[in-house]
Amino acid sequence: MKLWGGRFEKSTASIVDQFNASIVFDQKLYKHDIMGSIAHAKMLGQSNIITKEESQKIIQGLIEILKDIEDGKVAFEIGLEDIHMNIEKLLTDRIGEVGKKLHTARSRNDQIAVDIRLFLRDEIKEICEKLKTLLGTFVVISEAHIETVMPGYTHLQRAQPITLGYHIMAYFQMFKRDYDRLEDCYKRVNVMPLGAGALAGTTYATDREFLKETLGFSEICENSLDAVSDRDFVIEFISGASMIMMHLSRFCEELILWNSAEFNFIEMDDSYSTGSSIMPQKKNPDVAELIRGKTGRIYGNLFNILTLMKGLPLAYNKDMQEDKPPLFDTVENVKVCLEIFNEMVKTMKIKKENMKKATKEGFMNATDVADYLVKKGMAFRSAHEVVGKMVLYCIQKGKGIDDLTLEEFKIFSNILTEDILDAIKIESCIASKISQGSTAKGSIEKMIKSAKDFLNI
Ligand code: ARG
Repeated sequence: MKLWGGRFEKSTASIVDQFNASIVFDQKLYKHDIMGSIAHAKMLGQSNIITKEESQKIIQGLIEILKDIEDGKVAFEIGLEDIHMNIEKLLTDRIGEVGKKLHTARSRNDQIAVDIRLFLRDEIKEICEKLKTLLGTFVVISEAHIETVMPGYTHLQRAQPITLGYHIMAYFQMFKRDYDRLEDCYKRVNVMPLGAGALAGTTYATDREFLKETLGFSEICENSLDAVSDRDFVIEFISGASMIMMHLSRFCEELILWNSAEFNFIEMDDSYSTGSSIMPQKKNPDVAELIRGKTGRIYGNLFNILTLMKGLPLAYNKDMQEDKPPLFDTVENVKVCLEIFNEMVKTMKIKKENMKKATKEGFMNATDVADYLVKKGMAFRSAHEVVGKMVLYCIQKGKGIDDLTLEEFKIFSNILTEDILDAIKIESCIASKISQGSTAKGSIEKMIKSAKDFLNI
């Protein structure tokens, strides 16, 4: 017998039971469902909608059910459709008729909305913690490599020398914004829909303020129709998660490149690499590749739910039951990716010498020669032209700019004097970046200082 079976003459086809049910995935919400129900039962008692004694019995029953579920003693039933009706059935089986009063002044529509919000609040907090851990790791690596010289790239072509500390602190900024985004999203998740009923509010004198306080929400949804209709807060979360994944994926791509024999800037630890079933010599950066790959999956989840919600008339539609698989999948994967990425970068070996060697080729100090000429009075565009010719000369002679003698420098401009030899050293190129936010040591120190302030470390 269905909990809603009263108006039906025939039972549902068993294929429909299977098709309609969400219990296979929404059982993940059991704790939050019970939490919401306990608050609701308390409120019903406080507001004299049911007696205090009835309220107590219901709460006691729910607490016991929670324990049973946690002890693995409960088998959920497909025929009972979802987590809400499974728990309600467990309750009436346990405490009898009074259990049937729990659903007074409530609908599954406000119930599921509150469950998801309670769930997501916890998960956002956990993901934010993981982001902070990763940000802390970035600070540690940057501090250790504040003077580790490496090529900076544009178009994946060697561009200008920078330091590894600077490179890592760029990611710090990106993941810090991801953190801020989730923190901001949390504000919109932390609004309470319970008490909205099916869509129009209820005929009972409920105390939604009490529910809000009991469940620790910061606000109450002002319009009950909105409260049960939208999942924008889920979309917003998955969008924030997609951004995290995009950043992880970019960093992974760099690490995969750096880990190759061609770059040879890092070596992934054995514990974060895997081998090949055919080529005995191989050590592959599978973990980084898989994080990059899972990014597509999270984007898929975002498009899944955006498309799901598009065109739905108000209020609740059963389509919305499909919000949970992409949400749960996103939460699980973002958490594991953040965790494993953090360990992967903590354990990788950084090959400082190779990074430095790579700055010797590619004329990475060409812009500095141009800047030198500008400071001696030449217009930048002319200096660009002069140094372009100088680079061409070097290519033809198979030399680097640093290999040129003062006499050779003079071929290109008379204003080049002895001090050019110092100015083009890679270390000078980095130290001379005096603008705010640059790759120079003092500038990175400031970034690290403000990072530490943010992290309270
Ligand atoms: N299992 C449903 C879901 O996840 C709960 C809400 C059902 N409401 C309804 N009116 N059928 O969306």
